[in-house]
Amino acid sequence: MTAFIAAPDLLKNRTILVTGASQGLGRSAAIAYARHGATVILLGRSVRKLEQVYDEILAIGGPQPAIFPMDLAAASDADFSAMAQAIGYQLGRLDGILHCAAAFETLAPQALESVEGWSKLFKVNAAAPAAINRACTNYLEASDHASVILVGETHGHEPVAYWGGFAVSKAALEAYFKVQADEWAETPMRINLLIPGPINSPQRAKTHPGEAKDILPQLDDLLPNLLYLMGQESADIRGKVFHGSSRVPA
Ligand SMILES: NC(=O)c1ccc[n+]([C@@H]2O[C@H](COP(=O)([O-])OP(=O)(O)OC[C@H]3O[C@@H](n4cnc5c(N)ncnc54)[C@H](OP(=O)(O)O)[C@@H]3O)[C@@H](O)[C@H]2O)c1
Repeated sequence: MTAFIAAPDLLKNRTILVTGASQGLGRSAAIAYARHGATVILLGRSVRKLEQVYDEILAIGGPQPAIFPMDLAAASDADFSAMAQAIGYQLGRLDGILHCAAAFETLAPQALESVEGWSKLFKVNAAAPAAINRACTNYLEASDHASVILVGETHGHEPVAYWGGFAVSKAALEAYFKVQADEWAETPMRINLLIPGPINSPQRAKTHPGEAKDILPQLDDLLPNLLYLMGQESADIRGKVFHGSSRVPA
């Protein structure tokens, strides 16, 4: 199947929250969504990096984005509700969420992991996406074809040695994905899971530091899928898992 070619106005008048928008896949996707007409809400911890993405979006003529700094490891349900209310108050609508934020420390054997480390990984990688979706449901429900995209991980899908709490937290994200897809089956809201696979991203640089970066698929290779899954053409696609740049669900 050929790559999806997005119309220039694919996301015109849509408002999309992108977590992990300060760098890597979230940054690339936020810029691509804005390039295709969306007002994007940029969520991450580093205000400096989010402001750089904000400036890049204005420089390409995208709609003025919003910045929402938040530490997902520390946020409570009340914080997520306040964020949803702020989006509703300031932007009036929410049509989609792309969850790119992820916590990763290091590869390690089980003997070196801790309950504190696992708790943070679980909070950022699994509990926060679920809590954000919950907090935003009223706005997503009001949209005609709201789309939520979770970003998984190869080793959450097929856990192996040394990927530890990170793999477990991403496996939990996949379990949540199935629960949410089932609960939303009869609603206008849809949720799908994208597993990037080996890709030249900042996370990959941490897990495979010595690897030649230029022979890997690049972040931009995933953008057609991320645009497709956010746009109207995928309105009937729900509860599906996509791997890398393939538009054929697994
Ligand atoms: N093999 C695979 O399947 C594979 C390979 C690569 C990536 N991935 C997945 O693809 C996604 C993007 O990867 P990437 O390499 O592009 O990511 P990345 O560059 O490591 O970026 C992580 C993002 O998450 C944000 N973040 C981390 N901790 C946070 C926290 N506590 N609160 C709020 N934001 C937080 C960071 O924001 P700040 O910089 O502002 O802190 C940053 O924007 C991730 O979900 C990753 O697991 C999967």
